[in-house]
Amino acid sequence: MVAGEIQGIYQSLGEDCQLLDLVDLPAEVFLGSAYEKKPDAFVPFSEAILGAAGVVFVTPEYNGSFPGVLKYFIDMLNFPESLEGTPVCLVGLAAGSWGALRPVEQLQQIFAYRKAPIFPTRVLLPEVDRVMGEGGRISDPEIRSRLERQAAGFVEFVRLLRPAL
Ligand SMILES: Cc1cc2nc3c(=O)[nH]c(=O)nc-3n(C[C@H](O)[C@H](O)[C@H](O)COP(=O)(O)O)c2cc1C
Repeated sequence: MVAGEIQGIYQSLGEDCQLLDLVDLPAEVFLGSAYEKKPDAFVPFSEAILGAAGVVFVTPEYNGSFPGVLKYFIDMLNFPESLEGTPVCLVGLAAGSWGALRPVEQLQQIFAYRKAPIFPTRVLLPEVDRVMGEGGRISDPEIRSRLERQAAGFVEFVRLLRPAL
């Protein structure tokens, strides 16, 4: 729901923004054999990352970190071309009052290792059940405004780093 709201913000800025939900990963991606040969059904996901000018990662907090499936997804991407040089932007959400600061900072460590330029403005959504209103809309005006400013800044960041795209 949060990612859908963020997609809407980028679209209102006139940006083409594709939403990848890891819930839609095909089951065969989770077979041990996927490490040796990536299943064909993973290609739309890996191609979406390869073709993106920039990537916004929206992560919940699971047990003080980001969900294991997100790390697995990153591990399945083509190395090194998927993230190296690709600007990334981070949004965290959590039931608790730290708003996924831990997972966001852990992801920053991975993206620094993978040489992905990290947009410095992060947005955290603490007590996400309160922030999200009826129908999956972000009801907190301050959080919405932070996401809008982050999106405008990230678009600028990507243009500066990748003027040819
Ligand atoms: C397995 C699991 C672990 C969680 N661990 C934390 C946590 O460590 N800290 C926290 O604030 N919220 C935690 N939560 C709450 C989630 O961050 C919150 O419910 C979020 O909306 C879940 O997003 P999802 O619906 O996309 O899974 C956890 C939820 C799940 C399902």
